[in-house]
Amino acid sequence: MEKITIINHALLKHKMSIIRDKNTKTKEFRQTVSEIGSLMAYEVTKDLDLKEITIETPICEAKCETLAKDVVIIPIMRAGMGMVDGFVNLIPEAKVGHIGLFRDEETLLPHTYYEKFPENFTEATVLLVDPMLATGGSVIAAIDILKKYGCKKITYIGLVGAPEGLAAVTKAHPDVKVYLGALDEKLNENGYIVPGLGDCGDRIFGTK
Ligand code: PRP
Ligand code: URA
Repeated sequence: MEKITIINHALLKHKMSIIRDKNTKTKEFRQTVSEIGSLMAYEVTKDLDLKEITIETPICEAKCETLAKDVVIIPIMRAGMGMVDGFVNLIPEAKVGHIGLFRDEETLLPHTYYEKFPENFTEATVLLVDPMLATGGSVIAAIDILKKYGCKKITYIGLVGAPEGLAAVTKAHPDVKVYLGALDEKLNENGYIVPGLGDCGDRIFGTK
């Protein structure tokens, strides 16, 4: 199965133009990131492992299928939190863990400040979410943490990626599936994605 998927969906492209627009304000930006999260969650979960169960319909016994494993959504704070609602809307039974990382603006290296996970998350299907894949340092560091705990099945989902970040993540963690809403041109000299959408965390939380 393909390890890298750039999601090709008309509605997603439409909503990406809204969040790329510098005139989009906090309320619409946050709402649209969440809606894109739902669209991506639908795509990302379509091949999850299933197991057979037998249930009673009002008419008779029926063999059905249900998710084989728990789903744990893990946002990289802060910006990843903007995608959680969209995922939880589609997978309400999912549990949510958190990894706090920020990127040093000078060195562009990630620093960890928070980790909190649900019980038995290492056995679950882990959906790691962070809208921006720039150098890839943050996502690589988050996957390093998850693997250190023993997670076996990790999928990363981001809104916008740079080729540099995608190459770095697939080199460091070739077993991890990657889904992006768009693969952009490049990084600029400040480590921002071009054309990108600017600083996603600041735009979701209105901090700039
Ligand atoms: C942003 C973004 C990613 C990271 C991407 O977070 O949400 O986590 O940068 O850059 P990288 O691929 O070069 O590591 P930031 O560090 O700005 O923190 P924030 O989400 O708290 O704003
Ligand atoms: N983080 C962001 O929020 N945006 C970028 O373009 C790069 C890193």
